Amino acid sequence: MAKWISRTLFLASFLFCSLLVSYLPTAYTQQKMQQESAPRQEQAIPLQILPKDNAGNVDWVKSLRQGLIKPKDSLDPSKPITPVIDLDIVFKVKGDLPDVVYPHYPHTQWLSCSNCHPKIFIMQAGANKVTMKKIEEGQFCGRCHGVVAFPLSNCTRCHSKPKR
Ligand code: HEC
Ligand code: HEC
Ligand code: HEC
Repeated sequence: MAKWISRTLFLASFLFCSLLVSYLPTAYTQQKMQQESAPRQEQAIPLQILPKDNAGNVDWVKSLRQGLIKPKDSLDPSKPITPVIDLDIVFKVKGDLPDVVYPHYPHTQWLSCSNCHPKIFIMQAGANKVTMKKIEEGQFCGRCHGVVAFPLSNCTRCHSKPKR
């Protein structure tokens, strides 16, 4: 009887050991792969995979919307999270050219209110005497567009609201 029990015990422990031996290498490689892939998330995203706008430049707003990029609110993690507002401002343009739509939503996903208010734009619709010439000289929208945001040559991304 005792012999029978010890045989079963021996068999069971043999099985356990062989299972462990076959599992350990997989567990090890899995852990190693996780370790190796972790810093990869911090690496730059290849520009080729990001969506492009009508002029062939990277469409950063679409990239953000599709979740391909996730800009940090601030380089300083102790700073409070910047609010987002969904408010479109239409600049009526004389003539046939489409009106300009300034969308707060995508801007406030990157920027805080104080990046524009009150130094670049007084916080009131129509209060800023914006002209294309001033923009080209680097004022108003031209503080960023053509510098760090899509270029002024892409007229229709700003002049996006046809007259009828
Ligand atoms: C990239 C620049 C920019 C940023 C950032 C920005 N705004 Fe504005 N804001 C504008 C422009 C342009 C106007 C329109 C000015 C004009 O018509 O002369 C405006 C107008 C406004 C107005 C006036 C609306 C009206 O009907 O009179 C309010 C209110 C406002 N912004 C609030 C905010 C708040 C709150 C934030 C931050 C969450 C913010 N803005 C961030 C550019 C910006
Ligand atoms: C403080 C910087 C700044 C100012 C001032 C600014 N923008 Fe932008 N704008 C950006 C950034 C950053 C983006 C996102 C990056 C990009 O698209 O190149 C952007 C994106 C946009 C987009 C694309 C939105 C979308 O949904 O694709 C439009 C349209 C636009 N801006 C219009 C304007 C107009 C019109 C003005 C002036 C009334 C203006 N911006 C002033 C920084 C600015
Ligand atoms: C970054 C956004 C942006 C881009 C890009 C842009 N515009 Fe404008 N444009 C504006 C704004 C804002 C106004 C002011 C609207 C108003 O008159 O109140 C304006 C006004 C104008 C006007 C009206 C007259 C004037 O001088 O103010 C003309 C014409 C014009 N743009 C032509 C163009 C052409 C052509 C292009 C492309 C080569 C272009 N714009 C690209 C934002 C833009």
